[in-house]
Amino acid sequence: MEIVELKKGIYWVGAIDWNVRDFHGYSTPFGTTYNAYLILDEKNVLVDTVKAPFYSEMLERISEIIDPSKIDFIVSNHVEMDHSGSLPQIVERIGNPMVITSERGKNGLEKHYQRAMNFKVVKTGEAIPIGQRTLTFVEAPMLHWPDSMFTYIKEDRVLLPNDAFGQHFASCKRFEDEAGEEVMKHAAKYYANILWPLAPLILKKVDEVVKMGIAIDMIGPSHGFIWRKDPNRIIQAYVEWSQGKVGRKILVIYDTMWGSTESIAKAILKGLIEEGAEARLLHIRSNHRSDIIAEMLEAKGVLLGSPTLNNGMFPTMGDFLTYMKGLRPKGKYFGLFGSHGWGGGAVKEMRKHLEQEKFEVWEKELSVQYLPDQDELKRAIQFGREFARKALSD
Ligand code: FEO
Repeated sequence: MEIVELKKGIYWVGAIDWNVRDFHGYSTPFGTTYNAYLILDEKNVLVDTVKAPFYSEMLERISEIIDPSKIDFIVSNHVEMDHSGSLPQIVERIGNPMVITSERGKNGLEKHYQRAMNFKVVKTGEAIPIGQRTLTFVEAPMLHWPDSMFTYIKEDRVLLPNDAFGQHFASCKRFEDEAGEEVMKHAAKYYANILWPLAPLILKKVDEVVKMGIAIDMIGPSHGFIWRKDPNRIIQAYVEWSQGKVGRKILVIYDTMWGSTESIAKAILKGLIEEGAEARLLHIRSNHRSDIIAEMLEAKGVLLGSPTLNNGMFPTMGDFLTYMKGLRPKGKYFGLFGSHGWGGGAVKEMRKHLEQEKFEVWEKELSVQYLPDQDELKRAIQFGREFARKALSD
């Protein structure tokens, strides 16, 4: 196995999951990695572990560098099982090392694994010397769970923030400068589907880290590539995404039964393009919900279209709205359209869902009976044009 060294004495000892395609509801067509890090010093430290089925892969990587029983401390930055799943086994293998974690991390690990461990609870700003280096801890509640924390190696200027700044992508490369431009696309999808609801906390945390004077040369997240060449790039992207920075993008997200809603969607798209919007058409059953959410990150406007089924919206639209609600995208301007046979109801139900959650929805809406005729398609183009002007007006 190739040994991956981040800085002298700091190694990547994680695992590559080439085959995972669904990560608790998030599509991972390119797999992912579970990143763990080994620091060799007077005290040897393992930072995080890997998902349980990958324990042997991690152990093999550690064993290529040192005898695993020589590990003194394990830092558990996050309880979620993709990072703590191998903790009981590695603790057993080493023989009761000190497990450094946050207060909530201790509670979470005890509840998950129901076994005694030699815990050392740390708080923000607390530092533990390990020889030539000092590990400093920063609690980061809700990034991604209440227990989450960052580990910072001051002497090497390396930040190990667990889930923050990650991407789901399996590769034989480890560093972002080896990954090409695709890395930002994967980072954006990861942010949108995992961290978007926490945007205000992210801005606060970045501010706090700046005030603590934490200088960063490298960021080793717990998934995907390590930010080596330009760690500031991903920090800046997180700030912009959290601030809700958007361009001229407008999405048309729809489903269709007999092609009627799709015809309207395409006419609306034409209107959006005529007004200079960067418009994209996304059929819900042809695009995974997590990919649609990734597209929403930098969109200013979102038009939702559904046919009427049993006096309500199509079930796939209900699924999408439920998923979107949990991610709380801020600052988007919504518009609604659809089709119906007799009583209607899809547009009304979508409006109810959005307004309940305090999303900003255009009062004008468009619903067509059966199939749209030429006049109705012209109206749909105008509807798109008017929506674009409103959504892009500020
Ligand atoms: Fe990668 Fe919240 O776990």
